[in-house]
Amino acid sequence: MLAVSSPRLQSRIAALARFGALPGGGVTRSCWSPAHEQARAWLLGEIKTAGLTPWVDAAGNVFGGLGLASLDAARPAVLTGSHIDTVPEGGILDGALGVLAGLECLETIRAGGQTPRKPLAVVAWSDEEGRYGSLFGSRAFCGRLDAAAIPTMAAVDGERLVDAMRGAGFDPLRAPEAKAPAGSVEAYVELHIEQGARLEEAGIPIGVVDTIVGVRRARVVFHGQADHAGTTPMDRRRDAFLAAADYALKARDLVVTRGGPRAVTNFGVVHVHPGASNIVPGRAELVHEMRDPDAGVLERLARDCAVLAEDVARARAITVEIRPMSATTPAPCAPRVQGAIEVACSALGLPQQRLYSAAGHDAQNLAAVTDAGMIFIPSRGGRSHRVDEMSDADAIERGANVLLHTLLRLAA
Ligand code: GLV
Ligand code: MN
Ligand code: MN
Repeated sequence: MLAVSSPRLQSRIAALARFGALPGGGVTRSCWSPAHEQARAWLLGEIKTAGLTPWVDAAGNVFGGLGLASLDAARPAVLTGSHIDTVPEGGILDGALGVLAGLECLETIRAGGQTPRKPLAVVAWSDEEGRYGSLFGSRAFCGRLDAAAIPTMAAVDGERLVDAMRGAGFDPLRAPEAKAPAGSVEAYVELHIEQGARLEEAGIPIGVVDTIVGVRRARVVFHGQADHAGTTPMDRRRDAFLAAADYALKARDLVVTRGGPRAVTNFGVVHVHPGASNIVPGRAELVHEMRDPDAGVLERLARDCAVLAEDVARARAITVEIRPMSATTPAPCAPRVQGAIEVACSALGLPQQRLYSAAGHDAQNLAAVTDAGMIFIPSRGGRSHRVDEMSDADAIERGANVLLHTLLRLAA
C-alpha cells in the first residue's frame, strides 16, 4: 500500500519552521511579512523539487499541480492544502501541516507512478489567520471577496492590506482575479491539527470533521472623556476603559447564556487611548469575536450585543460605536469527502470519529464551491495558537497517510 515518507515530511516541517522562528520556540509569520515571503519562496522551491508544477494566483495563493498547470473546468482537480501564515507567537503546525502533508502526498503519488484519473493540486492559502480579513486567499479563490472593501482592509494595528500586499510584490486590487473557474475543483480535503483535546482524550487518532464554525468579529469603540487621573473626582469620570471592561464581562455572559451550546466569545485585542497611567482613558477599543456553528444564532447574538453595548455606554454617560470587521459562514463538510476519509481510515486500520471544528478553516469557503472536508489529528494537550503547539510524529504520519488515501479515492 502506498505510504508517505515520514522523515521527508518531518524535515520539511522543521525547515518551514525556520521562517519567522522565535528564540524560545514557535513562530510568528503573518501573511505578506518578510518571513512569510521567504517561506513562500522556499515552498515554491520544494514544489519544484517534488516534481509538481508551481503557480501563484492574484491573491497570493501558492499551488503545486500534479497533472495540471492551472485550474480548468474541463479537467476538475482534487485540491488539498492549508496555509503557511501563522498567528503571532503561534506554533509550527497550524497550517504548515496541511500544506506540507499535501505536498508529501502528491510527491508520493507522482513517484508511485500510477497517475490518478483526475489531476491533483496542493495549495497554501493566503492570510488564513485573517490579519487583514478572515480567510483572505480562499475567499478570493471562491469568489467571496468584496473587491470594494480591499482598500479599507487593515490589521488591528492599522497596517493596511494594500500596503502589506504591495510590499510583498502583489497588486491588491487584482486579488479578486484569483476566483477559480466554476466547476474547476472536483473536491477539497485539508489535513489539520485538531487544536483542541477531544481526540487525545478519547484516544482516537483521526477526526473526520462534519461541521466548521462561523466566526464574527467587530470592533467595539467606547468614546468617553480624557481627564487628569489624579485631579478628576471618581464620580465625574467618563472612563472609556471601564465601559469596555463592563461590556466584555456582560457580553461574555450573554453569549454563554443566550448562544447555542457551542457558542464561544473572546476579546483578544484591547486598545486604550491615549494610553498613559495618569490620563483617564478617553477611548477604548475592543475586538469582539463570537463563534457558533449556526449563522442565525451568530446574527442574533450580534444584535443582542449591540443593544448591550449601548446600555453599558449610556449607564456611564459615554457613547459607543460598533464596526463589523468580518463574518465567516459556518459550513457542513460534504458527506462524499467524509465518506472517503472514513474508507481511507478503515483501509489503514485507524479508528476515527466525527468532530465539529470550533476553529475556522479555508475549507469552509471551499464548501461553497465544491465538496469539502477535513481530517484532524490529535494536538498534544489540546494546545494551539501558542508556541508549544505540537502533535506526535506518529500522529502526523497517520494523518498524512489518511490524506494520501483520501486523495487517491477522490481522484480515482
Ligand atoms: C483559525 O485559526 C481560527 O481562528 O479559528
Ligand atoms: Mn489553521
Ligand atoms: Mn490558526
